[in-house]
Amino acid sequence: MAKDEGIIMFKTRMTQMFGIEHPIMLAGMNWITEPALVSAVCNAGGLGILAIARCNPKETRENIRQIRKMTDKPFGVNQILVGPGAKENIAVAIEEKVPIINYSLGKPWFVNDVHAYGGKVVGTIAIARHAAKAVRLGCDALVITGHEAAAHGAAATSMVLIPIVASMVDVPLIAAGGFYDGRGLAAALALGADGISMGSRFMVVKESMVHENFKKLCIEATEQDTVYDNVFDGMDGRVLKTKEAEAMMKRGFPLVEAVEGALLVKRLMNLSFAKFVGVSIEMLKAEEGHPLMVLARQAVGNMKHLKALNEGDVEGGILFAGQCCGGIQDNPTTKELIDRVIREAEDALAKLNSYRA
Ligand SMILES: Cc1cc2nc3c(=O)[nH]c(=O)nc-3n(C[C@H](O)[C@H](O)[C@H](O)COP(=O)(O)O)c2cc1C
Repeated sequence: MAKDEGIIMFKTRMTQMFGIEHPIMLAGMNWITEPALVSAVCNAGGLGILAIARCNPKETRENIRQIRKMTDKPFGVNQILVGPGAKENIAVAIEEKVPIINYSLGKPWFVNDVHAYGGKVVGTIAIARHAAKAVRLGCDALVITGHEAAAHGAAATSMVLIPIVASMVDVPLIAAGGFYDGRGLAAALALGADGISMGSRFMVVKESMVHENFKKLCIEATEQDTVYDNVFDGMDGRVLKTKEAEAMMKRGFPLVEAVEGALLVKRLMNLSFAKFVGVSIEMLKAEEGHPLMVLARQAVGNMKHLKALNEGDVEGGILFAGQCCGGIQDNPTTKELIDRVIREAEDALAKLNSYRA
């Protein structure tokens, strides 16, 4: 840790590998981590990540170029690998030489292509044994997602998962799931991580596109106000406890909505029927879950998420959100948040130091 003209700087493997000031990453969040938020995080010294799962290749390229107009700092993209359009989107990110490619849910086929232009590949894992595998496949760093997280954490909490993975692999580790302040950053560093990734916390900043109704719900939520189930998009995941989330848990698998949703995805992604079937068969071969069904259920989840994010529909909408919403109490600017987290982490470490006899 160093002080640069009064500004506290943490130097970790994460800041060094990515050439950033602060060990804080904006978690890739479909629909939410758009150029305005990504560039705000980069300009405040963190690592901004553009989520591209919702984009077609043209939109992916436009968004990447837009970010480059808004910041000259390093940034990354995040793509869920099981899903239509993943191959095409990753190809665009590689053509555009995006410095960091972060993936989740699947196996990366593009590591050598990214390394060829000097880029870094960051795998997201939620199970310790997947960490060793991702490193064997060539990942330069990992995001480790705990059970507390918004969306797709697995059974183990960050508290348990981070030290286990830190003892297993020797690459920079970014802790995700439950982090929203500087005490969390200090704790993550103590557990063996090199920085944190925040999702829920960055949903509630001025530059975030999340509808004010849902920002308010996140601020009002306690740590008890999320639910974890596979009904939301077909994979175990965590959302805010809204009326619709609870109703979905009671209803179980929504077959009619799933078919409608899958067709909507096909239309939105501009897939021909043959390609749609091709993608679906490929997804059947993917590693995690039951991907064809997941595709249909993702579509249902997507529609309900858009109701939350764009329309602020607190009755019919659902929103991935983490347990740390219980600690989110305001809607600061991105820079205010990042500076505060760094200050708090410094205070937390000073406090720990003071315990020495
Ligand atoms: C609305 C929303 C959308 C998300 N979309 C993605 C995504 O597209 N890809 C991904 O890897 N993770 C996604 N996530 C998970 C986050 O990247 C991250 O792992 C999680 O928010 C970390 O937990 P936290 O909310 O406690 O900070 C999403 C999370 C939220 C809240």
